[in-house]
Amino acid sequence: MCSVDDVKPGSARRFDVDGHRLAVVRIGDDWYAIGDECSHADYSLSEGDVWDDEREIECPKHGSTFSLETGDPQTLPATQPVPVYTVRVDGDGVLVALP
Ligand code: FES
Repeated sequence: MCSVDDVKPGSARRFDVDGHRLAVVRIGDDWYAIGDECSHADYSLSEGDVWDDEREIECPKHGSTFSLETGDPQTLPATQPVPVYTVRVDGDGVLVALP
């Protein structure tokens, strides 16, 4: 997907790969990948704030937060989850398993 240097700790970045639109999130040395499109409307979660302690990302439009571990919304107005992808770091490379 990218190099570990491509995403700063505490931030997210959007990647479009093989028809999938992903938000790759880094918290310290922990990595997450979720669907980038908010389940409430078509806004990019990777443009939202990352909440390190809660392991969540906040939609920049209406403020729903989503678990980076399950994809479930934690606050309204979103009620549906976003997809979650498996991430692995191999050396300097960040690998994401696509379905
Ligand atoms: S578009 Fe994300 S909460 Fe509304």
